[in-house]
Amino acid sequence: MAKIVSIHSFRGGTGKSNISANVAALLAKDGNRVGVVDTDINSPGIHVLFGMDEEEMTTSLNDYLWDKCSIEEAAYPVGARIGKGEVFPIGGEIYLVPSSIRAGDITRVLREGYDVGLLNDGFNALIERLKLDYLIIDTHPGLNEETLLSVAISDVLIIILRPDQQDFQGTAVTVDVARKLDVPNLFLVINKALTSYDFEALRKQVEAIYNCKVAAILPLSEDVARLQSSDIFTLRYPDHPFTRSIQNVVALIKAV
Ligand SMILES: Nc1ncnc2c1ncn2[C@@H]1O[C@H](COP(=O)(O)OP(=O)(O)OP(=O)(O)O)[C@@H](O)[C@H]1O
Ligand SMILES: [Mg+2]
Repeated sequence: MAKIVSIHSFRGGTGKSNISANVAALLAKDGNRVGVVDTDINSPGIHVLFGMDEEEMTTSLNDYLWDKCSIEEAAYPVGARIGKGEVFPIGGEIYLVPSSIRAGDITRVLREGYDVGLLNDGFNALIERLKLDYLIIDTHPGLNEETLLSVAISDVLIIILRPDQQDFQGTAVTVDVARKLDVPNLFLVINKALTSYDFEALRKQVEAIYNCKVAAILPLSEDVARLQSSDIFTLRYPDHPFTRSIQNVVALIKAV
C-alpha cells in the first residue's frame, strides 16, 4: 500500500516545496517509487527544484483537471535531472506532476475553479498506474479546498512552521483541522531555526503547545538559501546538518 504524505503550512514561504522535494529524493535514493504532485495551483514552484521549465511542461495537473489528459500523462520522471545526475537504485524514481506556470492557466483556475474531487481520483490513479510506494503532496499555504482534501486522505501530514509568532498561531488552526479530519499521523517540522537557538528547548516548547511530535528542526542555512531551489540540497550535501534533519523526517515517514 502506498503512503500519501502531505506537506503543508498555514503561512507561505516556510519551506514546503524544498522539504517535499528533498523528502521525495531521499525516499527514491532508498529505491522507492515516489510521486510528487504540486497542488499549489495558484502559485506553483516545486518543478524548479526538479529542473523543469515551462516549455518542457507540455501537460500539467491543470490539463488533467480540465480532462485534457490522464494524470499519468502529466507525470514526468525527474530523477536523472537532480543532484548532478544522481543514480537511484533499481526501482528508485521520482515522478513529478507539475502545476502549470502559464499565466492563462492560473487565471483560468482562479476564474472557473475545478472539481476538487478529481484530485482524489487522480492521486489514486497515479499510485496504481505508476506503482508508487509514496505520494508526496506539496500544497498551497493556508486552508482551501485542495488542502482540506489532501489532509483528509493523507496517511501522514507534516505541518511546517518557522519559529515565528505568526506561524505559531496559524499552525494551531491547521493542527485543529487535521485532528478534526482524523489524520492518522501528524508531525510538525520546524524550519529556519536560528542556529543560535537551543533546539531541544524549542522542540519541547512546540510539542507542549500543540501536543504533537516535532519530527525535526531544520536550521536556517545560508547553504540552503544559496542553492536558490535550483536543485535538491540533500543530494548535493549528504553530510550537512539540514540533510541529517531531513533524514529524520524520512525515517519517521518510513516507520508509520
Ligand atoms: N532551512 C532553510 N534555510 C534557508 N533558506 C531556506 C530554508 N528552507 C527553505 N529556504 C528558502 O526559503 C524559500 C522558500 O522555500 P519554499 O519555496 O520551499 O517554501 P514554500 O513553503 O514552498 O513557499 P510557498 O508557500 O510560497 O509555496 C526558498 O528561497 C528556499 O530556498
Ligand atoms: Mg511551495
